[in-house]
Amino acid sequence: MAKVLLADDEMTMVQMVSELLRADGHEVFPFTNGNAALEAMESIAPDLVITDLYLDRTRPRGLEILHKARSLVPPAVVIMITGFGSIETAVEAMKNGAYDYLEKPFKLDELKLCVQRALSYNEAVSENVYLRKQLKKKYQFNQIIGTSARMQQVFKMIERVADTDSTVLILGESGTGKELVAKALHYNSRRQLGSFIPVNCSALPENLLESELFGHRKGSFTGAINDKKGLFQEADGGTIFLDEVGSMPQVLQSRLLRVLQEREVRRVGDNVPVYVNVRVVAATNEPLEKKTREGSFREDLYYRLNVIPICLPSLRERRDDIPLLAAHFLKDKTHARTGKPMQITKSSMDVLCAHDWPGNVRELENAIERACALSETHVLQITDLPPELHRYASEASIDTAIETREGSPPSQFVVLNQALFPTTSSDAKPPSFGDGEAASGQTLGTLKQFIRSQELAYLNKALAAAGGDKQKASEILGVSLATLYRKLLEEGD
Ligand SMILES: Nc1ncnc2c1ncn2[C@@H]1O[C@H](COP(=O)(O)OP(=O)(O)OP(=O)(O)O)[C@@H](O)[C@H]1O
Ligand SMILES: [Mg+2]
Repeated sequence: MAKVLLADDEMTMVQMVSELLRADGHEVFPFTNGNAALEAMESIAPDLVITDLYLDRTRPRGLEILHKARSLVPPAVVIMITGFGSIETAVEAMKNGAYDYLEKPFKLDELKLCVQRALSYNEAVSENVYLRKQLKKKYQFNQIIGTSARMQQVFKMIERVADTDSTVLILGESGTGKELVAKALHYNSRRQLGSFIPVNCSALPENLLESELFGHRKGSFTGAINDKKGLFQEADGGTIFLDEVGSMPQVLQSRLLRVLQEREVRRVGDNVPVYVNVRVVAATNEPLEKKTREGSFREDLYYRLNVIPICLPSLRERRDDIPLLAAHFLKDKTHARTGKPMQITKSSMDVLCAHDWPGNVRELENAIERACALSETHVLQITDLPPELHRYASEASIDTAIETREGSPPSQFVVLNQALFPTTSSDAKPPSFGDGEAASGQTLGTLKQFIRSQELAYLNKALAAAGGDKQKASEILGVSLATLYRKLLEEGD
């Protein structure tokens, strides 16, 4: 069922084609005048436009209609109808984005077939564009937060290997983002329109895992009532993600090795191998090398999997990313009662930075989620954070006190606090640079401090102008988003 705009100055032609298309269930908008068709096009928003090239007999009006149809969002697909001898203009129309053309006189069957092809082409295009946009958005690198040197190495590695077919082994503690990286590899590769199939190798008993991975033939074991495709076959043309591969039972390790060597799978109860075109990404939070030394993981499989290792740092090894991650998890949150955007106090941020996060990013994400749900106001306080974090509160405030007493620079979190999270306490007073002030050595800061304060003020101005949207603010300032974050986090002197 499609919306079809039909434009031809021959009334009989319009009637005949309209009837034909309506009989096929389409909604038809017929026009015998070019101007009227052009005027109505936007509000109709047709999926398909069928137009005569020489519409008003004087000039190729059809080209104007073509142009307008292609500039709609989403664009309509266009079929041109041409009179005898206007083949050159028809070619020009094709060059300008017409899908096809029909030369008069044409058979109705011909038209029907042409319409069918044009509509299925349109559907495929819009589906692909939509899917690609959604997936890209979800797994762009900028969804993996981190500006620390360790994360920069990870990004470089992802970029370098995403578009290859090499097997990747992602290593890292629980909650460090292994699945996120696996998805980023898939959705930034040329396999992105194929499937991404995650398999948790520790979640299923040996016999079930085998039939899940490789499939089975009907009757090959009790309960196998139908033929079943395995996940390797499901992932054909895409990526299979073998999560927690370290827990894979030994018997299956040998079968997996064979698949990696021969790129073929055999279903349980079947002797005929099936070729599969699959990229393998595996992950583990266990020390695989140690397991191979102890004999619980096959050494040859380890080498097959460990072609390109990507090691994800624990969160405590990249503490400088904590404020960014916290800001990321707070970004779209609003207070349930007041609807105000959630913010965080400086001391709460200090506490987040002091914790060791054994559950890594997942634990931080959950802590913030929980705090937002519990918070009385839209500003997160230490008391909103999980109880095990409260013990850092005094340490954090002692740190601040020492810094202030020794007159050392405000910590980066103070700066972040000023720039991104309007402070609720006034414990960090930047040096003053008021123009009208007496120029005594005690009230004046260093030149570096002055420049930094001007820079911060300007960054804040841009942020305010952009309504708090950092992407927009970075565009106003003419710097990248990463630079904006870095500048907001920079320590003062
Ligand atoms: N660098 C990051 N930036 C933003 N979010 C992240 C990052 N790393 C992890 N996360 C988030 O933390 C959560 C855990 O990530 P993920 O599931 O990828 O971890 P994992 O290493 O696979 O953990 P596990 O070993 O427990 O399976 C997810 O919600 C993910 O979106
Ligand atoms: Mg995982």
